[in-house]
Amino acid sequence: MNNNVLIKAEKLVKKFGEFVAVDNIDFEVNKGECFGFLGPNGAGKTTTISMIHCVLPLSSGTLKVAGMDVSKQPRAIKRIIGIAAQEDNLDPDFSVFYNLIVYARYFDIPRTEAQKRAKQLLQFIQLEEKTNVLIDELSSGMKRRVVLARALINEPQILILDEPTTGLDPQARHLIWDKVRSLRKQGVTIILTTHYMEEAAQLCDRTIIMDNGKIIEQGKPEILIKKHVGEEVLEVVYDEEIVGYLKKTFPDAKLEIVNDRVQVFSTQPRGIFVGLLDKFRNKGAIIRNANLEDMFLKLTGRRLRE
Ligand SMILES: Nc1ncnc2c1ncn2[C@@H]1O[C@H](COP(=O)(O)OP(=O)(O)OP(=O)(O)O)[C@@H](O)[C@H]1O
Ligand SMILES: [Mg+2]
Repeated sequence: MNNNVLIKAEKLVKKFGEFVAVDNIDFEVNKGECFGFLGPNGAGKTTTISMIHCVLPLSSGTLKVAGMDVSKQPRAIKRIIGIAAQEDNLDPDFSVFYNLIVYARYFDIPRTEAQKRAKQLLQFIQLEEKTNVLIDELSSGMKRRVVLARALINEPQILILDEPTTGLDPQARHLIWDKVRSLRKQGVTIILTTHYMEEAAQLCDRTIIMDNGKIIEQGKPEILIKKHVGEEVLEVVYDEEIVGYLKKTFPDAKLEIVNDRVQVFSTQPRGIFVGLLDKFRNKGAIIRNANLEDMFLKLTGRRLRE
């Protein structure tokens, strides 16, 4: 095994009864990278993460973390992982500080050491002034930050973030992004799921795109975008006549209708743009940079957030 590989899944399957949630997937996560799992609701992202974190048994296949088998050494694996789960599971009866201290007990961290780390972590997430506040008195963005701090209490080699910024305002999101970048710089390997394509493009070295339990594509975000979409996308207001014109004049272009707009994927978006301007003025045609969401839409005909 390449010794840069920290997590390796082969023919990984998870079934719930007859339902196949993770369907025979292979992937490798390298030491020190930020690795993203993308996909629509129900794709199997959280299920995969739960197997890495040894809280769900595999149905079949193998999964190794730092050379250890999840089926054989779950305790040792849990010690080197920090997880910020999708659901907020902080204890509402305790203060921010005490939530971290209680969590430290699972790792047998001595009390004085736990207190020292908790203090530093609250500084790291910029919530020192909420140290003694009850969880219920925090905003949801603050709770996500506490969940992140708690995930770091055991100084994990691997940090798993399941939708760390869902529902946060742009400022809170940027704070989390900064923290993720700084942890990655310190050498922490990060696994991230997100529905925000900009987040994946900003943070992830490599991503996997999942759909219905399967991996449909993987690679570096910018390379995936170039490969499937190209550099630019043309968008125009939806109109039967325009769609008819595009289909007839540019049969190689792929059209996706999203709400009231048509997205045109083509190797020659500028040529089409000029043609459109000529024939249909004032129809709000624009050219913009391609992004990961375009790639997903083109591959599956669906948006990531449905
Ligand atoms: N404990 C369970 N019992 C039965 N089915 C489950 C269970 N957990 C997950 N599933 C099913 O497995 C599929 C994958 O779920 P999972 O939570 O992994 O999706 P996800 O990609 O994380 O989606 P989301 O973006 O909504 O978080 C879904 O169809 C879900 O209903
Ligand atoms: Mg999930």
